[in-house]
This record gives sequence, structure tokens and C-alpha cells, in this order.
Amino acid sequence: MANSYTYAVELKGVTKRYSELTAVNNLNLNIGKGEIFGLLGPNGSGKSTTLKMLMGLVQPEEGNIQVLGRDAKQDPVGVKRLVGYAPESPRLYEFLTGIEFLDFIGDIYGMQPEEKSSRINEYLKGLQLDGREGDMISSYSEGMKQKIALISAFLHKPKLLILDEPLNALDPRSARIVKDFLHGLKQQGITTIMSTHILEIAQAVCDRIGIMYQGKLLALGNMEELRGMASLPDSALEDIFLKLTGTSDVKAVVEELVK
Ligand SMILES: Nc1ncnc2c1ncn2[C@@H]1O[C@H](COP(=O)(O)OP(=O)(O)O)[C@@H](O)[C@H]1O
Ligand SMILES: [Mg+2]
Repeated sequence: MANSYTYAVELKGVTKRYSELTAVNNLNLNIGKGEIFGLLGPNGSGKSTTLKMLMGLVQPEEGNIQVLGRDAKQDPVGVKRLVGYAPESPRLYEFLTGIEFLDFIGDIYGMQPEEKSSRINEYLKGLQLDGREGDMISSYSEGMKQKIALISAFLHKPKLLILDEPLNALDPRSARIVKDFLHGLKQQGITTIMSTHILEIAQAVCDRIGIMYQGKLLALGNMEELRGMASLPDSALEDIFLKLTGTSDVKAVVEELVK
């Protein structure tokens, strides 16, 4: 099915409630093709819920979601085929080895054996897991498990990557490798949407950032634009940056960002 679409992702008036709690509150957001977009916000601000709604794993009560020109509600299978998703706490089959697990994921996507194995090897090497692929996943560190989850999201060459807190368990060197990798994919026109509660990660990796707080999108822009907004007196962003950086000296945070 040929679909033409302007944005990789469009959310219009999206609201998700869990009983009394409004996890995502009237979210309007367009993300362009080839963007690396970051959803930044403290814990509980609605980032994971937003990403799950894009994947059709959670249904909003209100609003409309288009992913790569498809309605997330009407065509959840079509969306999943085109999208790679790495959840916040991935569930891996720990009794498999890394290579067995990736092989299994490739089969689920119906990849041809040669392409599958060449891509698995390329990614294992790229993320510096080669040499450990024959060990059981249960013996891996959290960072290694996160890398396996990322590879399983990239493996079928999706047009859109949805990565929930992808860099948390990674050491700076591995985070750098993933960052470079995402930039490489961007050159091929692949869109990435990632969540993070760590300001430095969003700043280092993302072209544009949306700041979420209590289910609402408080601000949207590139880092420079956000810094401008945060330095305004009485800006809500001051408070957010404070929460994200954990220092009580808001001025120091803003100065650090403007460096
Ligand atoms: N399945 C669920 N049932 C009830 N409440 C939930 C569920 N998932 C998330 N929430 C609540 O929704 C809010 C947003 O959660 P989440 O989207 O996970 O935030 P974030 O990813 O920004 O930390 C939180 O208050 C969380 O407790
Ligand atoms: Mg989350």
C-alpha cells in the first residue's frame, strides 16, 4: 500500500487516562521525516505512554495518531511492521544466547537468512558485542541487554525507530556509538523518537526536543530555543530543568546549558 505523508508522526489532541490519572493530556505534536526527536521529562511525565500509543500498545481515549501515514488504531500491524521499538524494560529470552535471540527476531520479521545474518553481525560488531554473542543473555550486563534490545529494534531496517530510554544503561562510550549510529540512520532518512529523563542525553543526541511534564507538552524546539525559554523569568522550564538536573541552583543550570 503506497502511503504519502508529510510527517513521520502526527498526534492530534491525544489524551490517555488511567482511571483518575491523566497520563497524557491533549498532546499535539508533529515529528518530521528523518528527525531525531527527544521526549524529555521527569519520571511519570507521560513519555512511555506516548511511545506506547504510537506503537498501538496503548489506546488513547481521545485524539488521533498517524504513524508513517497509517492510523495507529486502524492499522496497528502495518505500523509495527514499519517501526522498530525498544521498550523501557525489554523482556529478552534470557535462556537464549545473544545471537540466537537476534536470529529469532529476524525470523519474526521474515528476513532472508543471508541478509539477517550479515546485518546481525554488522550490528553486533558496531555495538561492540562481538565475541559475546554466543553467551546466554542471562550472563549479560544491563548495558549489553540494552544493546541487544536496540539491535532487535534496528534489525528489520524500520523507517521509524521508537526507543524508550535507550541510553540509560549504557556507558558513555557505548552511548556515543549508539548516537553515531542514529545519526547514520538519519542520513538514510530514518526517523528516531526517543525518550529520556536525562537532559544531557537529549542535548547530545536530538535535533529537536519536546519537554513533557504531567502529561502535557510544555515546550518544543531545539536546544537553543529551549534554553532561551528556560532563561526567561518565571518560566516553567526553569523548574523542569531543575528537576532533570537535580540542582537547586537554576541559574547555574541555565548557565551550564548556555556554555
Ligand atoms: N498501566 C498503567 N496503569 C496505571 N497507571 C499508569 C500505567 N502506565 C503508566 N501509568 C501512570 O501514567 C503516568 C505516566 O507514566 P509514563 O508514561 O510511564 O511516564 P514516563 O515514561 O514519563 O516516566 C505515571 O503517573 C504512571 O504511574
Ligand atoms: Mg518511561
